[in-house]
Amino acid sequence: MNADDLKKQAAARALELVRPGMRLGLGTGSTAKHFVDLLGAKVAAGLSVICVATSEATQAQALSLGIPMSTLDETPELDLTVDGADEVDPQLRLIKGGGAALLREKIVAAASARMIVIADDGKLVQKLGRFPLPIEVVPFGLEATRRAVAQAVEAAGAAGELVLRRRPDGAILVTDGGHHILDAHLGAIERPELLAQALNVVPGVVEHGLFIGLAAGAILAGEGGLTILGG
Ligand code: 5RP
Repeated sequence: MNADDLKKQAAARALELVRPGMRLGLGTGSTAKHFVDLLGAKVAAGLSVICVATSEATQAQALSLGIPMSTLDETPELDLTVDGADEVDPQLRLIKGGGAALLREKIVAAASARMIVIADDGKLVQKLGRFPLPIEVVPFGLEATRRAVAQAVEAAGAAGELVLRRRPDGAILVTDGGHHILDAHLGAIERPELLAQALNVVPGVVEHGLFIGLAAGAILAGEGGLTILGG
């Protein structure tokens, strides 16, 4: 079974959590895309739900499948959000933002009664940080913000290079919110809560990819079957 099959398996299991009338948050990335595809088929077969997307890409996909879409202004409280992740640790702390959608992903997750992560089990790590931590920053004052981020990272006991994310064509990546992303190559994050707090107070940092206390559960698909964390 390849990684994409595993992602689809996790998405299919998450679909079992969806009930008629639910208000859903739809994640971003290749795993979440499977969930939206499967949800679209259910909607076509008569399931009634209302959804909020975490990115313009997911919004376009959902609309193309005929899924009824709303916004957090019209629907500020969601029942369930299903989203992927770049890393998950056993305490359900996450690194997200590999797809540059972390800001909307975190807002939607925070507005949800329950967030469930779907992923292949290669995303499960004992310690976060092998995947570069995305930090979303405003373009104004980028170099000053980069230095302040480096100091905050150091103060939190971590260290590593901060790399401005670029698109495949070499242009600086711009997020859906009009910001840039610094990817922090930290290797291992010993104290994720401390790092999150340190980054939260840096002027110019809009959001970071440490999701702590947001995921209620994770569905991780591997060759040996599904691993379920949390509930
Ligand atoms: C996007 C994300 C994604 O959920 C994360 O990058 C995982 O993506 P994939 O399912 O493609 O591995 O956080 O910002």
